[in-house]
Parts: sequence; structure tokens; C-alpha cells
Amino acid sequence: MSTEEAHSSAEIAARVERRWATVAVIIIVAMALLAAFAGIHRATMPQPRVEITDPSRLHLSGEFVESNLGSVLEANGNVTVRAIGQQYSFTPACIVVPADTPITLRATSADVVHGILIQGTNVNTMLVPGYISEQLMRFTNTGDYLMPCQEFCSFGHEGMWGKVKVIDKTEFADRAKGGGRLSCVGQ
Ligand code: CUA
Repeated sequence: MSTEEAHSSAEIAARVERRWATVAVIIIVAMALLAAFAGIHRATMPQPRVEITDPSRLHLSGEFVESNLGSVLEANGNVTVRAIGQQYSFTPACIVVPADTPITLRATSADVVHGILIQGTNVNTMLVPGYISEQLMRFTNTGDYLMPCQEFCSFGHEGMWGKVKVIDKTEFADRAKGGGRLSCVGQ
């Protein structure tokens, strides 16, 4: 082997080594990005766990029987709202909640896929029959918010509207004193 040949094979070896080092770095970076994405994605998704329910038996027993729908003040001061969507209305059609309070919305569908969107907020979730959708929300201002169905659910879709009424915290506590489930239907 001449000196020139030895020199060029050392160059080739260095080039191959650089190439493999680059590939290794790309793989490591890709794996780190994947791990970061999976972590962030899970933390930001509204439903990191799946809860199921039987849509054909909602009205018979369990969490979504009619007498359990509406808003309830929990012992820790938080509020839980339970609602169902069906062609073509929400029950309750008017949801009443207090301002400045952590609220958990739990909802499902009795028939086809619907969606709940509260205008002017980032509350937006799908109601899929068989699954319970849970979303956390909090309102700073009192007032009325429109709540249209945001998922095409057949010919009556455009008429499927609900309302969220945010009232003063103390007023809500007053109304919750009697126990039971609160709504603002007919108000
Ligand atoms: Cu329900 Cu669209």
C-alpha cells in the first residue's frame, strides 16, 4: 500500500464514521422528540382515560338517569355538571353554573355523535354514544353562553342548541342548599 492509498482509505473511514454518527444522533433526537410529544399530548388531551357507558340504558340506571342530570355542588366546593345529548337537544337544555368555580362537565350521547361547544370559551368536546366525555371548565364572568351542537347529527342538527347560564357564586350556593340537581330550564 502506498502512502497515498493509506491516506485516502483513512479519509473514507472518517467519512463513513461521520455518516454513522449523524444517523445515531438523528435517531436519538427523533426518539427524544417522540417521548416529549407523547408526554405533552397525554397531559393536554381532555380524556387521558376512557370511561364507557351503555347508551341504550342511560335513562334506566346509573350516572346519567334523568334525576341525576344538571349541576351539583360537591362537598369540596367544586361543581359537577352531568348532561346528555340526543337528537336534537341537550338535557338539561339550560345548564346553570357558578362563576369562579372549578367545574367538571360529564356528558354522553343517547344516540349518535353530537358535540358540545360553549361559545366564547375553549370548551369543546364530542359526545360519542358509549363513552363519557369529561371536560374541566371555569368561568370568570357571569352571563349567558350559547351552546350549539358542533357535530353534524342528521337533519335536525342546526336546531340543536343549549345554553349555559353563569351566575354569581353565592347565588348558586343559595340555590344548591335544597340539594338535588340544578338547571335553568324554563328560566
Ligand atoms: Cu347534535 Cu348536531
